[in-house]
Amino acid sequence: MEANKNRILVFGGTGYIGKYVVKASISLGYPTLVYTRPINSQTSPSKIQLCKEFNSIGATLVEGELEHDQIVRVIKEADIVICTFPYPQVMEQLKIVDAIKVAGNIKRFVPSDFGVEEDRVHPLPPFQAFLDKKIKIRREIEAAGIPYTYVSANCFGAYFVNILLRPYEKNKDIVVHGSGQVKALPPPEDIPISIIHSIFVRGDMANFELEEDDLEASQLYPGYNYTSIDQLLDKFLVDPIPPAYGAFE
Ligand SMILES: NC(=O)c1ccc[n+]([C@@H]2O[C@H](COP(=O)([O-])OP(=O)(O)OC[C@H]3O[C@@H](n4cnc5c(N)ncnc54)[C@H](OP(=O)(O)O)[C@@H]3O)[C@@H](O)[C@H]2O)c1
Repeated sequence: MEANKNRILVFGGTGYIGKYVVKASISLGYPTLVYTRPINSQTSPSKIQLCKEFNSIGATLVEGELEHDQIVRVIKEADIVICTFPYPQVMEQLKIVDAIKVAGNIKRFVPSDFGVEEDRVHPLPPFQAFLDKKIKIRREIEAAGIPYTYVSANCFGAYFVNILLRPYEKNKDIVVHGSGQVKALPPPEDIPISIIHSIFVRGDMANFELEEDDLEASQLYPGYNYTSIDQLLDKFLVDPIPPAYGAFE
């Protein structure tokens, strides 16, 4: 069966989003390669543990840096490339785009988006500057003629509801620093605040219509039992998980 299946290569596969991508790829029966930074004495125990888990479920780990010849070699072993690099490494994907061009065999590239639909929102400048980098990668992929899928995850998962409500902290008081009239935050602290503003104040995520080439992701897996916000709030009441935070620098 595996001979006919596309081979999936994941960059950033040990991360917050990447580990779900790798596990989903394996569970759907795709031969899965995970290109990971070399494991050494500085590597966290949690990454080492995750790599063991990946090995045990059948993923193939390839350790290496983002060095051109090395990544061309691994890309030649794959059909589809998925990248889940964190925001500070988004521009490093230019190296992956270059390597995909040289390798010439990739059927589809899924870059590290997994956020808002960046071509269609107009948030405050700190968030826009964040998005400009992801937009640049999109335009490079298109200019190179690489087939692509862009995944706009928006406020998927528990991530943003958890950050907004912080049920884990069980605080009774809210602290407002300064007079509450502060007009500026130093970068990169201004990025998460302008993301929250875009989502919850401007409603940017829901301010546009889907077009012909767009697909509402839930249509892909109509049989999947999605968790509703109501069910999530119930979970928060009983056993809230600590919020996760993305990297901004
Ligand atoms: N919509 C949402 O709610 C949401 C939430 C979070 C993130 N995101 C987006 O999802 C994407 C992935 O974010 P993430 O939070 O999953 O990323 P992450 O966990 O911080 O990192 C993903 C992986 O990237 C690899 N990596 C390569 N170079 C690195 C470097 N210099 N420093 C740190 N890691 C490096 C690491 O894997 P190896 O060590 O195996 O190489 C790491 O595990 C981003 O585009 C982010 O903006 C969206």
